[in-house]
Amino acid sequence: MLRNVTRTFGRRLRVNPRKRVRYGTTHFGYEQVDEEEKESRVHQVFSSVARNYNLMNDVMSAGVHRLWKDEFVRRLAPTSDATFLDVAGGTGDIAFRILQYQKLEQEKNRSRSDSVKPRITVCDINHEMLAEGARISIDRGYSSGISWICGDAEKLPVCDNSVDAYTIAFGIRNVTHLDKALQEAFRVLTDGGRFMCLEFSHMTNAMLERLYDVYSFEVIPIFGEIFARDRQSYEYLVESIRMFPAQEEFADMIRNAGFSCIRYENFSSGIVAIHSGFKLQAPLA
Ligand SMILES: C[S@@+](CC[C@H](N)C(=O)[O-])C[C@H]1O[C@@H](n2cnc3c(N)ncnc32)[C@H](O)[C@@H]1O
Repeated sequence: MLRNVTRTFGRRLRVNPRKRVRYGTTHFGYEQVDEEEKESRVHQVFSSVARNYNLMNDVMSAGVHRLWKDEFVRRLAPTSDATFLDVAGGTGDIAFRILQYQKLEQEKNRSRSDSVKPRITVCDINHEMLAEGARISIDRGYSSGISWICGDAEKLPVCDNSVDAYTIAFGIRNVTHLDKALQEAFRVLTDGGRFMCLEFSHMTNAMLERLYDVYSFEVIPIFGEIFARDRQSYEYLVESIRMFPAQEEFADMIRNAGFSCIRYENFSSGIVAIHSGFKLQAPLA
């Protein structure tokens, strides 16, 4: 039975969805749409999923997204004296982890936990996602540590050279022009500032990839329908993952935006990858 499913499914995937798009158009999942249309379609997706976003993340990944995010923040190792901008920060999952990490570090070092005011800004294009995040932050007692701002990753409402770390988790594949978002990341970072991105990526194990495809295309939309009453948004999410550049290609894009010391690390056989780089205006000696 599994063989039949993968065979049918393989046929569907053999149509290379990453084919070039016409000028002025872009991808929305596997659909080709006008560039202006993509932003509003992405907006609709996240407005629709905002209330169930955290529940669906747990359902779809069996909770593993929490481990990926924990690892991401551990790699970031956020110190209390730095400023952070979490772009496409949605309901605040990364921001909460940064605060939690800083709190634990302060406790370990026996410093007073309120000695340094956290400086974290969450920026997202969608009000509903931000509102859900702000609500959760009050429930968790984090309301004073985070600023929530509405803005587009391609035109950040943030000053040049003003943040020490720019993070983006599961957000960058939704922007229309990846290159513009990366240039904006470079612009807002201070000299020596760090760019870090956690995103779905491309699997490194062909056997597992087949199973992952079946799960993604056949099971996740059903979960979307059951738990969020929204199959289409979850079809888009799955397709958008397949349209995102592979690890090396994305690393090149980060390099082209001006970043140095670019690295990436795969997790769960490449289901996700963490890319990082630094803004270094003077070359390393
Ligand atoms: C999958 S969610 C990720 C949320 C959060 N970072 C997390 O890891 O849970 C993607 C987020 O990207 C936001 N987004 C999409 N396009 C954006 C853009 N152009 N600029 C800023 N945020 C955007 C959506 O509104 C949504 O909140």
